[in-house]
Amino acid sequence: MNVVPLTSNSLEQHWMPFTANRAFKAKPRIITGAKGMYYTTDRGETVLDGSAGLFCVAAGHGRPEIAEAVGRTLNEIDYAPPFQHGHPMSFELSRRLASELPGDLNYLFYTNSGSESVDTALKIALAYHRCRGEGQRQRLIGREGAYHGVNFGGISVAGILNNRKAYGVGLPGVAHMRHTKLPEHEYVRGEPETGAELAEDLARFCQLHGGENIAAVIVEPIAGSIGCLVPPKGYLQRLREICDEHHILLIFDEVICGFGRTGKPFGADAFGVVPDIMTMAKALTNGVVPMGAVAVSDKVYETVTEAAPENAVELFHGYTYSGCPVASAAALATRDIFAQDQLVERAAQMTPTFLDALFSMKDVPVIENIRGYGMIGAMDLATLNGTPGQRGARVIQEFYDAGVMTKMTGDCALVSPPLVAEEGHIDELFTKLRQVLSTH
Ligand SMILES: Cc1ncc(COP(=O)(O)O)c(C=O)c1O
Repeated sequence: MNVVPLTSNSLEQHWMPFTANRAFKAKPRIITGAKGMYYTTDRGETVLDGSAGLFCVAAGHGRPEIAEAVGRTLNEIDYAPPFQHGHPMSFELSRRLASELPGDLNYLFYTNSGSESVDTALKIALAYHRCRGEGQRQRLIGREGAYHGVNFGGISVAGILNNRKAYGVGLPGVAHMRHTKLPEHEYVRGEPETGAELAEDLARFCQLHGGENIAAVIVEPIAGSIGCLVPPKGYLQRLREICDEHHILLIFDEVICGFGRTGKPFGADAFGVVPDIMTMAKALTNGVVPMGAVAVSDKVYETVTEAAPENAVELFHGYTYSGCPVASAAALATRDIFAQDQLVERAAQMTPTFLDALFSMKDVPVIENIRGYGMIGAMDLATLNGTPGQRGARVIQEFYDAGVMTKMTGDCALVSPPLVAEEGHIDELFTKLRQVLSTH
C-alpha cells in the first residue's frame, strides 16, 4: 500500500491551515487515496473532486507519468543548489514555459508556492523601477476581495478581511481598487457587460498619489477565492492602458487562472491582455510537488540584470528550493501531459457543458447568485442565521458525506473540476451538489 495508514493516535499536534481545527479533530475528514477524478477516504468511500483539489490537480489525480518522472529524478539528482549553480531541468522547464506564455513573458523565476510567487513578483517590480532610476515608485496597488496568498506582501495587496485583520498593518503605501462584484451582476455567465469603469480607480490613484510613485498593480484576471469574479468586459484592457500611460507594471496573479482553467492557456490569453509579470503555481506541477513560478517580460529581466555590474548577483532574492529538481521534473511531466491530452483544448470543449450544469442550479432556493467562466464557477449560498460562514461550514461536511468536494470560501461554493472531467463527471458533480443544497 502506498498510502501511510492513519496510525496516529492523535490528530491534535497538527495545527491545520485554514481549518476549523477543533471541529475537524472532533469529526475528521481523512483522505487516504486519490485517482483520476476521485478521492478515497478512510471510510472506504469515494469522493468526486469538484475543485481539482485546491485548483491544482488539472490533469486528474495519480498520473503515473508524473510519479515516474519524480521517482526517476529523486534517484538521479535529489538536490542541486539553485544559487550560483543549476541543473538541466529548471532550464528546460523555463524554455517550455516561455514558449507557452503570452507576449514576451520569456523569463522564469521559481518559488515554492503561489504566496511566494506573489511576494517575488512584488519585489521584482520594486527592484525593476529602482534599476531604471525610479526608486521612488514604491506604492503597490491591489484590489478589494483579492486573494494573493498568505505572505506579508500578498496579504497587503489582497483584500479579504479575515486573511488580514489579525496581522497588523502590512506593507506601507498600498492602495486597493474596488472589486468588480456589482449588484446588477446576477447570474452572469462569462464576462459582465458592466463595470469596466471600475478600472478608473487606478487612474484616480495616479491622480491622488502620483502615477510616478506607483510601482505595480496586481490583480487576478478572474478573482478566484473571493468567488469567481469574472472581469467586466474591457476592465483588464483599461487597467493595461492606465499602466502603460504611467509606466506602472501590471501583474497578473494566475495561480488559479493559469494552465487551462479558462479554456485558454492563461487568463491573459482568455481576456486578451498581456501583463508585465505573471505569477503561477498550483497546476504547474498538477499539485504533486510544491512549486510556483513568476514570469517576467524581456524588459523587466533585462533592466534588472543589466543594471548590475558584471559578475554581480542582480536580484538578491531566491529560495533554497527554487526550481529544485523534483519540482522541475513534476512540472515538465505535467507540461507533457497538457500537450498529449490537449488539456487546454479539452477545457475549452467542456466549458459549455460545465457552465450549462452550473447555471442549471439557479432554481435551488439556497443559491443566491452564480458566476462562471471556462472551467471555474461559483455559487453564493444564503447566509445562515445571519452569520457568514456557518452554512459553508455545514455544507463542507454534507458534500463530503454525499461523496463530492468543492472549495468553500465562507458561504460561496467554488467549483473547478480537473480538466480531464468527462460529461458523466460533470453530471455526477452537479447531481450531488443539487442533492445536498436542495435540503437547505
Ligand atoms: C490567486 C492566488 N494567488 C496566490 C495563491 C496562494 O497560493 P499558495 O497557497 O500556493 O501559496 C492562491 C491560492 O489559492 C491564489 O488563488
